[in-house]
Amino acid sequence: MKIAVSGKGGVGKTTFASFLIKALANEGKKVLAIDADPDANLAQALGVENSEEIVPISEMKTLIEERTEAKVGSMGSFFKLNPKVSDLPEKLSVELDGIKVMVMGGVKTGGAGCICPESTLLKRLVSHVVLARDEAVVMDMEAGLEHLGRGTSMYVDRLIVVVEPGRRSVETAYQIRRLADDLGLKKLSFVGNKLRSDKDKDFLLKEMKDFVFMGFMPYRQEITDADRDGRPPFEKDAETLREVTKMLKELKD
Ligand SMILES: Nc1ncnc2c1ncn2[C@@H]1O[C@H](COP(=O)(O)OP(=O)(O)OP(=O)(O)O)[C@@H](O)[C@H]1O
Ligand SMILES: [Mg+2]
Repeated sequence: MKIAVSGKGGVGKTTFASFLIKALANEGKKVLAIDADPDANLAQALGVENSEEIVPISEMKTLIEERTEAKVGSMGSFFKLNPKVSDLPEKLSVELDGIKVMVMGGVKTGGAGCICPESTLLKRLVSHVVLARDEAVVMDMEAGLEHLGRGTSMYVDRLIVVVEPGRRSVETAYQIRRLADDLGLKKLSFVGNKLRSDKDKDFLLKEMKDFVFMGFMPYRQEITDADRDGRPPFEKDAETLREVTKMLKELKD
């Protein structure tokens, strides 16, 4: 099961991803959690101590140079397009309660067309993890659509789009669906988050009539509190964890 979690900024991608990762781990699955957001905070949401000290892979200059045989920041020079990455998930992840966490970081050179050693290594690592690893993989993507264009979420079995009951998050969901469709990415699921009332749910169901929802998560003070305390949301909110565990059934078919 290789999953990427996407959606507009702030809708709850990281929160949902951490519940999903915990639910998979509770079922006895080995899970590799990947923070693919340059503004990384998945490790913290999973309860990794001192997560701010984790060096993102995109900043591991020596490693990147060693693997790609190029100088970092040397756009236009020659480097290996197929660097070895198969040992990296073991070497570079932090493990906590059976969950391995890997922080990818961002590549600042920007632009969808950028081919540089850092982005080549990251892309290769993501495709390796998705295509060749046998544990469950959950990737917390950066907000918006760019990762689709860049191909980072191309190989996943399932792209889960988190939406909150608001116009702009729904528009992003439509854009993601359109783009995923263009790219031939078939398996899309949607999760409604931060629902405060039935009115919120009705809004999503009405605005997104032909979308398949895996489930809904209520707005819960416990989740906000956990975030403020720098603790995992599932620690304080067993009820939402149960909801998300139910959603797993849907992922299996
Ligand atoms: N169901 C919920 N109930 C209450 N608060 C929530 C809920 N889901 C998310 N939040 C809060 O909303 C904020 C944004 O959540 P989160 O960081 O998961 O979003 P995100 O989509 O990953 O954001 P970003 O685009 O910045 O990566 C956090 O403060 C989080 O605690
Ligand atoms: Mg996030």
